[in-house]
Amino acid sequence: MLRFFVCRVAGVTESNMVWPVLREIAMPRIAYVNGRYVAHRDASVHIEDRGYQFADGVYEVCEIARGFIVDMTRHLDRLDRSLSELSIGWPMHRSALIVVLREVIRRNRVGNGLVYLQVTRGVAPRDHPFPDGVRPSLVVTARKIDPETLRHKAETGVKVITVPENRWDRVDIKTVGLLPNVLAKQKAKEAGAYEAWFVDPDGTVKEGSSTNAWIVTNDGILVTRPADHGILRGVTRTTLFDVAARLGLRIEERAFTVEEALSAREAFLSSATTLATPIVAIDGHPVANGHPGSLTLSLRQAFFEIAEKSPA
Ligand code: PDD
Repeated sequence: MLRFFVCRVAGVTESNMVWPVLREIAMPRIAYVNGRYVAHRDASVHIEDRGYQFADGVYEVCEIARGFIVDMTRHLDRLDRSLSELSIGWPMHRSALIVVLREVIRRNRVGNGLVYLQVTRGVAPRDHPFPDGVRPSLVVTARKIDPETLRHKAETGVKVITVPENRWDRVDIKTVGLLPNVLAKQKAKEAGAYEAWFVDPDGTVKEGSSTNAWIVTNDGILVTRPADHGILRGVTRTTLFDVAARLGLRIEERAFTVEEALSAREAFLSSATTLATPIVAIDGHPVANGHPGSLTLSLRQAFFEIAEKSPA
């Protein structure tokens, strides 16, 4: 009876195909919250967590591909920098955090997807200055992403829109204070696009709401904005420098305008979840011939081989 019911709910006929579906349904997602592995649906933090009240915290997103955590060292190095810029301590030793990441990935059986970690200053009565003697809070979640979905996005390319830069001047710190990014991404979605590029008053492109921005000039040179305080130094961006070196491609770190991007040979975006994904239109205008660029796809293809892979 239960079996019949599950088949109906899962929308499948009762056959050998049922059991993998059943196992997925029966297996709840697990999150790590401040020392405990808990059912994802019950996972919660205190109402006076400073992440909740002040966005006083930082995060990282690592790609999981084919059973490996991609570029974990660089993500944890950036976490270290973000924490130190905000004078938040590590919630636990780095090696212990790696154990937690692996355990959350294992308990959720994620072979392809992402692991998310968030550290906040901790829980304290609401008051703006740093509280004394609080422990940083740590939350870790992981989820599956079908690699086919990402591959499809890369094969078709994505559209971007542009929005005026309206963020603070320390976006190099990966904080959970992402309201301008959320509003920009929503605007992109409403325009039928995937991403929104923040553009400075001088017309130069900063980065996307959750991705770094790149173009390929007509001479085949990769161009991306210098990673100063004005953009997040993407881990994928850094590894793409390694990939470009391996492929013998030149990179120029400089600002570029929306006009230059529109007349470029290719444009693409990068992040842990999208890797290098071609951009085919900006504000409704096609980039080059409006099809994904071949150099972007070569970078994407070579990425996994060159990136650091830590067993998940
Ligand atoms: N976003 N710029 C911004 C503003 C970002 O939020 C991100 C990452 C990047 C790319 O960084 P990386 O290559 O290290 O993923 C650039 C993550 C994926 C997110 O917020 O979900």
